[in-house]
Amino acid sequence: MRLLIFVLMMLVFAPFFVLAMIGYIFKLWVFNIPKGISGTAYEPFMARMIMHEAGTRPDESAVRLAPHLPALSPFIAWVFGGMGVAARWCGYRGAIFDFPGTRPSTMYSVVAHRTDFFDRMFAEATDPGGEHLVRQVVVLGAGWDTRVYGSFEDDGVGDDGGVSDDNVRFFEVDMPPTSEAKRTALARAGISSDHVTFVETDFNQKSWFQAVTEQGFDPALPTFILWEGVNMYLDDEAVEATLRQVAHLAPGSRIAFDFMSRELVRAEPPFVWLGRGAKFGIKFYGERWLFGISTLAPARDHVDRLVTSQGLELAKFEPMGDDRDGKVPWGGFALAVCRG
Ligand SMILES: C[S@@+](CC[C@H](N)C(=O)[O-])C[C@H]1O[C@@H](n2cnc3c(N)ncnc32)[C@H](O)[C@@H]1O
Repeated sequence: MRLLIFVLMMLVFAPFFVLAMIGYIFKLWVFNIPKGISGTAYEPFMARMIMHEAGTRPDESAVRLAPHLPALSPFIAWVFGGMGVAARWCGYRGAIFDFPGTRPSTMYSVVAHRTDFFDRMFAEATDPGGEHLVRQVVVLGAGWDTRVYGSFEDDGVGDDGGVSDDNVRFFEVDMPPTSEAKRTALARAGISSDHVTFVETDFNQKSWFQAVTEQGFDPALPTFILWEGVNMYLDDEAVEATLRQVAHLAPGSRIAFDFMSRELVRAEPPFVWLGRGAKFGIKFYGERWLFGISTLAPARDHVDRLVTSQGLELAKFEPMGDDRDGKVPWGGFALAVCRG
């Protein structure tokens, strides 16, 4: 019944949705991609914004930031966010913006699973009372990620987890056009970013480590690296170099990352058709996947081998999809820690 009401609401909403989609694609291709600003950063961002509106995962900063991003506008953000509002009004929870979604994750819940995985790793690293508290957080390929803003900009240590605790320093690293667009959007949205150091670099050309160190990063302090939705756009050498660099950070340092199945990235069995579809979808944004880790059973072993070969230890692995009974997941989520 709830699904039926939701579908009826979506039908009423359809003309607005079509207009918003046209506006989004136009702005993406005219004002965003030609300037070198990330296009792929919008999908996970909008999913988080819609989850907020659906009442499943709070992210007030995403809602405030959305109207100011180059490919969005107040109208486009209102329409996309409206899908979440509709789901909340009719109590429908089976949609893609449910949170934290089902496990093993499905095609519908995979974005929620990804968001939930990084939320958990981030909270663990920044919990002032936790045993894994770090002194620095580096968000690599930050895109429109809002984890270090919002409720965290108000008071520092306290009820919200104390992420803006003066003892923790935050760095957001991205390509110059995306980083610049984000700073402009944050300022227009009135979101304070004084506690964040923005670092501009292209990982394929200059090491992120060198770039953040030039901006005051201290490799002697325990650090959490959040690397969400990024390594698939890098070459093998850039990915391995990143893991190696984390292995040389202070004891207690860790990196959380997701990865796509190498079989999917290369459109090889069992993902020939899915891989071709994904390639087409990514091309829409003018980008392409380069890196993947095999997820042929047992999937965990492949990521374990990679991080171990770069001097890290695999502390956590969750399949993106189902890896039970020899099934091949689409990718995975991993936490690798310094051995030190
Ligand atoms: C799919 S988006 C993910 C954004 C964000 N982490 C999230 O999950 O919402 C990929 C991000 O990685 C950045 N990126 C991709 N290749 C990069 C490179 N070679 N150097 C620096 N940043 C890069 C893009 O600009 C974009 O912001």
